[in-house]
Amino acid sequence: MAGTGPQGSPEGPRQGSRQGKVSVVGAGFYGSTTAQRLAEYDIFETVVLTDIVEGKPEGLALDINQSRAIEGFETEVVGVGGGEYGPTAGSDIVVVTAGLPRKPGMSRMDLIETNAKIVREVSENVTRTSPDAVVIVVSNPLDEMTALTQLATGFPASGSWVRPACSTPPASRPLSPQS
Ligand SMILES: NC(=O)c1ccc[n+]([C@@H]2O[C@H](COP(=O)([O-])OP(=O)(O)OC[C@H]3O[C@@H](n4cnc5c(N)ncnc54)[C@H](O)[C@@H]3O)[C@@H](O)[C@H]2O)c1
Repeated sequence: MAGTGPQGSPEGPRQGSRQGKVSVVGAGFYGSTTAQRLAEYDIFETVVLTDIVEGKPEGLALDINQSRAIEGFETEVVGVGGGEYGPTAGSDIVVVTAGLPRKPGMSRMDLIETNAKIVREVSENVTRTSPDAVVIVVSNPLDEMTALTQLATGFPASGSWVRPACSTPPASRPLSPQS
């Protein structure tokens, strides 16, 4: 049922109401699920999925697009590999999921050196191609990568141009200034 809200939502048809571009950097577990969910919301014109690896985001985008008629959304998903940022240009929102995840026995802080290099490089590309975007950071360690993104993009410190994204529900997270 193309053109209706996700999962038969009561909002009804959304024909012509899709707007804007969201880019997801990193087409791994988190990034690919995020791109799929964003597409299924059916509120954005375009979702771009990008990764340093060639072929992976392209294939994932093809799969998501092929589910459009069945899942009832019309957002177009564009996949681009090889660290190419052209199709992300002018994004309204960029979700940064690029970087290594933890392996058993690792802490999030063990990722800091590797992921800082990746997130800095991503930030520089986002600044160049989508200077007006709101950037949502997922990569761990989350607080440090969000601060780094803020510094590397130079996006305004006031307001919420750079935000952390935590997938742990607030109720199950420890109550601390870091949470
Ligand atoms: N904030 C949260 O709540 C939360 C939850 C889960 C995971 N994470 C973090 O998110 C990150 C991704 O996790 P995942 O499970 O998807 O990992 P993953 O290994 O499945 O995917 C990471 C992807 O990043 C890509 N990548 C690496 N360098 C890149 C670069 N320079 N440019 C573009 N893409 C690049 C890799 O090719 C890979 O496809 C990790 O740091 C993980 O710890 C955060």
